Amino acid sequence: MPTISYQTRTTTCAMGTRLRDALLDAGMTPHHPMVSIANCHGLGTCGTCAVEVRGVAGSVTEPTAIERWRLSCPPHRADRGLRLACQCRVLGDIEVVKHPGVWGQHRPASAE
Ligand code: FES
Repeated sequence: MPTISYQTRTTTCAMGTRLRDALLDAGMTPHHPMVSIANCHGLGTCGTCAVEVRGVAGSVTEPTAIERWRLSCPPHRADRGLRLACQCRVLGDIEVVKHPGVWGQHRPASAE
């Protein structure tokens, strides 16, 4: 079972679980508090579940078409290296980081 480290907590999930679902099931959320309810609930359209995923190559699935589209639209930028937690599936151990901003879009330049 893959291990997910997020903020100060750790959880596990079944291989292939959507990251957003794994976090919510563990009582965590990839969303900023302002949009914890007002979001697209996993459709891949609001962009508020954006996170940085750290892990070895292949520890999450490749970006989906809707994920690439949403992360190329403001306030996101395609070159930020973020992932939509509702679109990527967990395949291995990862560390997840939520950056500042309602969309989690303010990834520090040093982290890019
Ligand atoms: S929950 Fe809206 S894009 Fe992921």
